[in-house]
Amino acid sequence: MNKPPLQLGVMASGSGSNFEAIAQAIADQRLHAKVQVVIYNNPGAKVRERAERWGIPAVLLNHREFASREALDEAIVKMMRQYGVDYVIMAGWMRIVTTVLIDAFPDRVLNIHPSLLPSFRGAHAVEEALQAGVKITGCTVHLVRLEVDSGPILIQAAVPVLPDDTPETLQARIQVQEHQIYPQAIALVGDRDFGF
Ligand code: GRF
Repeated sequence: MNKPPLQLGVMASGSGSNFEAIAQAIADQRLHAKVQVVIYNNPGAKVRERAERWGIPAVLLNHREFASREALDEAIVKMMRQYGVDYVIMAGWMRIVTTVLIDAFPDRVLNIHPSLLPSFRGAHAVEEALQAGVKITGCTVHLVRLEVDSGPILIQAAVPVLPDDTPETLQARIQVQEHQIYPQAIALVGDRDFGF
């Protein structure tokens, strides 16, 4: 493979299992990329330990210490540039992002959401799918636009809702699929940008 690896910057607020799935895909050579930095906003987020285990720098940018969403995003962009990032990978980033971030990386900010968008946008997608009684839900990787959980869809995976599902059991089965499709979607975008 002679094209350069995609330079990724991951943003996460909590556990970071999607970050780890991406790191694993890179280690397994299923994704030709490198995670340059993980940015997290909650002190104590488990993603920090995961990043350390992979030897990847983890940088805390605590939103509580910034005057506005834009100010936080400016700091994120600066950090991403400092680490030479080309693609911004939102993986459980629980903050609304602004044009400051989106315009800095045109069509190169990705997000994963635990529903088949455009159904069940927002922070309670799994619970809402259960309440709605849908028989199939899933997850979506999409390019990020200003409107939350909107933007061109890259890959989706379907997950059946089982009769005795709780939010936790359903979320766990959705995450298995998330871990498959996120590395695939990143590879897809990378190939597109390299003209394949
Ligand atoms: C995922 O379920 C993702 O769909 C949502 O946040 C969750 C993050 O999980 N946006 P993790 O931190 O990657 O484990």
